[in-house]
Amino acid sequence: MSALFTPFKLRGMTLKNRIVMSPMLMYMAADDGLFTDLNFAHYGARLIGGVGMVVTEVIAVDPQGRISHKDLGLWHDGQIEPLSRLAAFGQAVNARTCAQLAHAGRKAVLDGEIVAPSAIAYDEKSKTPRPLTDGEITRLIEAYAAAALRADRAGFDCIELHAAHGYLIHEFLAPISNRRNDRWGGSLENRARFVIEVAHAVREAWPSEKPLMARMTATDLVGGGVTLPEALWLARQLRSAGVDLLEVSSGNIVPGYPGTVYPGYHLEYAEAVKREAGLPVGAMGSITSSDHAEAIVACGTADLVFLGRELLRNPFWPIQAAQRANVQVELPIATYARATGPYERGF
Ligand SMILES: Cc1cc2nc3c(=O)[nH]c(=O)nc-3n(C[C@H](O)[C@H](O)[C@H](O)COP(=O)(O)O)c2cc1C
Repeated sequence: MSALFTPFKLRGMTLKNRIVMSPMLMYMAADDGLFTDLNFAHYGARLIGGVGMVVTEVIAVDPQGRISHKDLGLWHDGQIEPLSRLAAFGQAVNARTCAQLAHAGRKAVLDGEIVAPSAIAYDEKSKTPRPLTDGEITRLIEAYAAAALRADRAGFDCIELHAAHGYLIHEFLAPISNRRNDRWGGSLENRARFVIEVAHAVREAWPSEKPLMARMTATDLVGGGVTLPEALWLARQLRSAGVDLLEVSSGNIVPGYPGTVYPGYHLEYAEAVKREAGLPVGAMGSITSSDHAEAIVACGTADLVFLGRELLRNPFWPIQAAQRANVQVELPIATYARATGPYERGF
């Protein structure tokens, strides 16, 4: 018996196992945020490698919300068709696909103006952003909902809101990047208004049988950042707004990571969020061994394990983990079963 290879259900979506490809920006979208053949091959390799679900890299809901000119987008209808190839391929290999919707805020590295809650640059090399107007904030919330509708038309099974790592949603949450004194800044309720309204708007636009996840920061570990009690409060609000699973991260509201990094360094936070919010959680951060992943799921610390760089090193990690655990899995390409070993005749 392996907990890691037990199916997992979230609303109407079932994952064949608990292994998820963590979102990772590859900087290889074509002009205008279009999904390319290289993007397809990159994700396709991990889908063939046996993950239960791929979460895409950041997909910008607005062109000004890209981290770079090489980011994917879902801000216009022409971006749907190329991405639909990824969702269809996921279905073909019995895996699920999730679109990570994002806005980079002050971390955008683009020509022209960049926008954020307040006119505070990320670091000395970054541009100073222009503060968003009230009307622009409302239009951005609508942009998230419009992108969710397009993600549905593209055939994605799930959406993840990127609410961490110092991007726009996180910038609203942290006092260090949000000095507003209108309804979007000041108290925790005001700083959280943007993400809660985004979650409501996306939930309304997104089919009720499809799940919504959020990648959240549990703590920034710096003064003026999000604190753990604030994050736990927010986790409960996100649950009320219709978020089904929280993927727990930390840091990056300012450059550098002040904490200690070790295999599973977010697990204590994931456990706390799961307990406080009563929602399933995803664990991420330097998880590389299948024994560790098995233990995380088996002891109930987290429901899903998100692997990032390990899947860049080894797309076949899930199939190899199954072999090590002696679990029979359906191979995405059945003929791979003939790759029995070097001392067998190979035909
Ligand atoms: C090249 C690269 C790109 C990344 N891009 C994103 C991204 O688009 N969205 C996101 O939420 N996290 C992004 N991350 C963070 C990863 O999803 C993951 O949380 C982080 O790498 C820690 O997990 P790991 O130790 O398994 O790699 C990126 C990480 C890397 C290495």
